[in-house]
Order: sequence, then C-alpha cells, then structure tokens
Amino acid sequence: ASRTELAGKRVLVTAGGTVERLDPVRYLTNDSSGKMGFALAEAAANRGADVTLIAARTTAPPIEGVKLVRVESAEQMLEAVLERYDSADLVIKAAAVADYQPVAQAAAKIKKSDERLVIELERTTDILKTLGERKTHQFLVGFAAETEQLAQYAMDKLARKNCDLVVANDVSRDGAGFNGDTNVVEVFGEEGLIESLPMLHKREVAERLLSRIVLRMREKAAK
Ligand code: PMT
Repeated sequence: ASRTELAGKRVLVTAGGTVERLDPVRYLTNDSSGKMGFALAEAAANRGADVTLIAARTTAPPIEGVKLVRVESAEQMLEAVLERYDSADLVIKAAAVADYQPVAQAAAKIKKSDERLVIELERTTDILKTLGERKTHQFLVGFAAETEQLAQYAMDKLARKNCDLVVANDVSRDGAGFNGDTNVVEVFGEEGLIESLPMLHKREVAERLLSRIVLRMREKAAK
C-alpha cells in the first residue's frame, strides 16, 4: 500500500464488543476481541490517514500512531462517533454493538434472592443507521455478522443503513468472525457482491479491504 493514499483523510474506526452494565460489577457483552477493527485502523494509518479508533471491550494492544478512544456501552460509542462524524472522511464500523441494553442500571450490586430474576432489555440506538441518515460527504462502511443468507442480509443492511460498502462475515464458519486471528469476508456494494476473500489473517483482510475502500472512494469522488 502507498503511504500516502489516505493522506489528509480523517478516518474513524470502531472496534470491540460493547459492555452493557446491569450493576457496578455485572454486564452483558459479546465475543468481539477488537482484532478486526484494530487491523483496519492500522491499515488506514499505514496509508497516511489521520485515524481515530473508538474501542469498546477488546484484547487487542494499542497501535502506534492511532488515536485510541475507549468507551464501554453502545450509548457511549454512539456519542464518541457522533462527536467526530462531521469531520470524518471515512467511517468503518467493525465493532460488535449490543442490540439491547438493560432498561435500568442498578447503582448497587444486585442482591440474590430465591425468586427468579427477570432482566428487562430495551433496544440500543443503531449507530450505523444513525450515521447513514446523517451522511453528507462521508464514505460509510458497515459490517454484517451473519450465520445464514449472507448476501441478502448484507444488501438489506447496505440499503437500510445507507452504507457505501458492507463487509459481511459468516460468523458460524471456522476461521471467520469473532475472536480468532483470521476472517473470511465478502464485500458488497450497491450493485451486489464485489469481492469474496479467502480465509486470511485479519491484518491481511484489513489491507485488502482498505485497498478496495480507497478505490471506491476515488470512484465516488469522481462521480
Ligand atoms: O472483533 P473481532 O473479534 O476481531 O471480530 C470481528 C467481528 C466479527 C466483530 C467483525 O468482523 C464484525 O462482523 N463486526 C460487526 C458485528 C456486528 O455487530 O454485526 P451486526 O450484523 O449485528 O451489525 C451490523 C452493523 O451495524 C455493524 O457495522 C455494527 O457495528 C452496526 N451496529 C449494530 C448495532 C447497533 N446498535 N449499532 C450499530 O452501529
């Protein structure tokens, strides 16, 4: 990759699994390690971009030259992304954002009793959809983590969330999706499937995705 392909461009990447607290010591989360998003942030920085990485719970180490903003919940991630959205040129949403959050967060540790405990959940704000609605000049890349009908769900997300590209991974496949070092992705644009990548290390997936994104950003700018 050229070290200057994205020079002067502001890039926002989200990574990791959000943490939705029930009380001060308990929470709901998911298996995302942040590796995919961190690799994307690094690949963008390698191309000369000014990169901000908004990360929820992760196991990935920080990246030199990339600004790291730590958040916990979907709500905090929404706020952190919106704060930086107007000045962003490219936004890549690799985070696994909770779809539901507890309606109430207990201020003190929830005490056990002999009764059943029912936890009520409500929908979180869909960050990607919000970004799609507010999109002006930004190039917006969403992810789709599916276990079936990859193409159909990816195309549906692309349209509903007003994305320029959707990267779909079948998270039920070996070597793909959450937590591991490799991924298997397909890239969708408004015309349908653009590219199917074989199983690759997440760093290599990220490099190839960034190459595709740069190409598309240029095409879009030339329109
Ligand atoms: O972090 P790793 O361990 O490396 O794993 C990588 C990954 C599997 C998490 C990653 O490749 C991936 O697929 N990320 C998206 C996971 C996800 O939440 O997918 P989804 O299909 O539920 O959501 C679709 C898109 O909407 C995503 O871009 C997501 O960031 C976004 N979303 C979802 C819910 C919500 N409330 N707000 C959102 O913005």
